[in-house]
Amino acid sequence: MEIVHYPVLHKEVLENLPIPEGDSLLIDCTTGEGGHTSLFLERYPNLKVIGLDRDRVIQQKAIERLRPYGSRFTPVLSSFDDYLSTADAESADAILFDLGISMFHYVESERGFSFRRDEKLDMRLNPDEGISAQDVVNGYSEEALADVIYRYGEERYSRRIARAIVQRRQEREIERSAELADIIFHAVPKDYRYGRIHPATRTFQALRIEVNGELAKIEPALKSAIRVLKRGGRIGVITFHSLEDRIVKWFFKDESAKDDKEIRIITRKPIVPSEKEEEENAPSRSAKLRVVERI
Ligand SMILES: C[S@@+](CC[C@H](N)C(=O)[O-])C[C@H]1O[C@@H](n2cnc3c(N)ncnc32)[C@H](O)[C@@H]1O
Repeated sequence: MEIVHYPVLHKEVLENLPIPEGDSLLIDCTTGEGGHTSLFLERYPNLKVIGLDRDRVIQQKAIERLRPYGSRFTPVLSSFDDYLSTADAESADAILFDLGISMFHYVESERGFSFRRDEKLDMRLNPDEGISAQDVVNGYSEEALADVIYRYGEERYSRRIARAIVQRRQEREIERSAELADIIFHAVPKDYRYGRIHPATRTFQALRIEVNGELAKIEPALKSAIRVLKRGGRIGVITFHSLEDRIVKWFFKDESAKDDKEIRIITRKPIVPSEKEEEENAPSRSAKLRVVERI
């Protein structure tokens, strides 16, 4: 089995989410291929992990990888906000979120997450739920598309891109990731086509966030996580872009400033990867870890 995802900030996550040596529970809200979970299970012999994921294909990889740990690992197919809303209060010693998608999604899932591949435009983490990227691209009004691309991609050419998409779809339905990437490439000014990032990067990110309702799930999940955490337990959240990080940062700030506050902030400034990690794993570049403790 090929493991393509490198667990980001793994040393820092272990250091900042200490677990009691006795019987204990970690909820890994975004198990992915089980990179972080396996490090915790290895480090703490009395620890059990409940590992959530929305994507049954990647979850299967985690199940295979973590088989040696037997009943210490329990996989649950669920979105973290749903699971945490009904989980027992004060039951977990630590809760980890490693937000976004995994390298697996870009390179193996065949769901159109990558503008470098020619795949069906789906982008759903759980293809049984919600609408696909193809539905968004072919069904939203020009204005709604431009808003999504601007808001979730922070793309300055959102209006031009939305216009080009609408023009093309009048000829035929847009079905493939490579076709969409090509439309975007030709919609933007020439000097933007060969910039630091591919001109489709931001639009693809925006579509993925829209299709999976990613941002709307963060705050409710963090709220529930505080309730589910034992006193003295910690929540760690790794984000990959400023839209996510802003939500996490402000939620923790507001919660820790309340008169009846239940958490204190452990990381005044987010923890970022060392130069060494950035060199070894370029996608870790934009990762930020924020940690709070329940008081
Ligand atoms: C960055 S990866 C996690 C990688 C993991 N920490 C590791 O070391 O292998 C994020 C994972 O979270 C999952 N995910 C994204 N949104 C989710 C949600 N709302 N609920 C549960 N899982 C989610 C994705 O399917 C993906 O597998």
